[in-house]
Amino acid sequence: MSSAPLRRSRPLGQQKPDPPGPTSRPATGAGAWTTSSWRAFPAGQQPDWPDPAALESVLARLRGVPPLVFAGEARALLAGLGEVCEGRAFLLQAGECVESFRDVSAPAIRERLKVLLQMSAVLTYGAMLPVVKVGRLAGQFAKPRTEPTETVDGVELPSFRGHVVHSDEPTLEARTPDPERLIQGYYQAASTLNLLRAFTKGGFADLTLVHTWNREFVAASPAGQRYEALADEIERALRFIQSIGIDLANEPSLHEVDVWTSHEGLLLEYEEALTRTDSLTGRPYDCSAHMLWIGERTRDLDGAHVEFFSGVDNPIGVKLGPTATVQDAVALAERLNPGRIPGRLTFITRMGARRVRDVLPPLLRAVQQAGIPVVWVCDPMHANLVRMPSGTKTRRFDEIMEELHGFFAAHREVGTWPGGVHLEFTGEDVTECLGGSEAVLEDQLDNRYETLCDPRLNGRQSLDLAFRVAELMRAG
Ligand code: PEP
Ligand code: CO
Repeated sequence: MSSAPLRRSRPLGQQKPDPPGPTSRPATGAGAWTTSSWRAFPAGQQPDWPDPAALESVLARLRGVPPLVFAGEARALLAGLGEVCEGRAFLLQAGECVESFRDVSAPAIRERLKVLLQMSAVLTYGAMLPVVKVGRLAGQFAKPRTEPTETVDGVELPSFRGHVVHSDEPTLEARTPDPERLIQGYYQAASTLNLLRAFTKGGFADLTLVHTWNREFVAASPAGQRYEALADEIERALRFIQSIGIDLANEPSLHEVDVWTSHEGLLLEYEEALTRTDSLTGRPYDCSAHMLWIGERTRDLDGAHVEFFSGVDNPIGVKLGPTATVQDAVALAERLNPGRIPGRLTFITRMGARRVRDVLPPLLRAVQQAGIPVVWVCDPMHANLVRMPSGTKTRRFDEIMEELHGFFAAHREVGTWPGGVHLEFTGEDVTECLGGSEAVLEDQLDNRYETLCDPRLNGRQSLDLAFRVAELMRAG
């Protein structure tokens, strides 16, 4: 990734700049940020929309729809992430690799939320700190791809880029980008978010209920005994709270939670169309989600994604893979968090089980020395992908854990805060990742391999992981 300083002139046709983002650049004149200034920069991974007029008509409609989230909510998440940044909280960011347009049922969303809440309860107890919960949901529809084409049943086709772009059906026609899908993505995000708000405020997130589910998991798990002690402790803590007169059933903080939304901010036309000026502060917010992240393939300092997200006030994440240099990390931190706001920027590192212990510490040191506050989160999924001889993509639970061990070790070595985990999981009982305490075996991979993109942890593997991360945090 290049780190050359940025200079460019404002593209034609932008007479009325939008409010500036939290950058140190001028508010007006050449070089000013606007919601569309990204268009003057190279934008990787954008679909090849066949009909510009159809795309423009869709974008015009999206510019007129209500925001999915509100600026005040994004600020509340920023405050939560600020706590993570300063070592007083932990981030759990997790969800689907890519949400499907076919999978909008309430049970599917509920199961995902259930596992997320269960993991969060375990991690809260492990860390003895609040856990900020962020889903990869209600908008995680678009995928970057390393290869532009893929071969399905011997036929070479454009790679699948998510239902918000085209169908996953293996025909050339189905894989042609269709901008109407951006509208469908917006409405599907709206209905998912609506259900999420109902579940998280309507009693489903009750801590005692979540704990009962965890007890069931522990009782049924082959690793049950290992987790039993921790589950017992949580139960004792709950009984203690009750015994001192706090009514668990009527304490809002115990049965209402905040689960924030996030997705990879990949399709910049969509993100631009959903950006609104906050009436309270006059600042631009990308109202498609509370938090947006920039992927490993689009984090170029001179690219359109970094330009766009430098200017909106949401909390922003950036994936950093093993090729990220110390210069890349410091330059991205400077560019995306010039105001040095704790919680504004999260680096989601995905280095691989074998490399994390070598490549992560220098980045942690450099950003620390630059004095730029950053939340550090471990994505132990994306650099631990393996392909079986059959061609099936999978991930091994042990390697995922090994990257997490390396992540915690690197932070202990440097003295920085291991701020959280970023996972791909689903509530269903799929067989996509290998291992776990009730192990998925190689010859079982095909039983329920349902992902549209990367292999996800199933519900049991996710809880296994949460208990083990809780142990790791305690050890640290
Ligand atoms: C993802 O999070 O699904 C993804 C594509 O990750 P990355 O950008 O780290 O490869
Ligand atoms: Co993925």
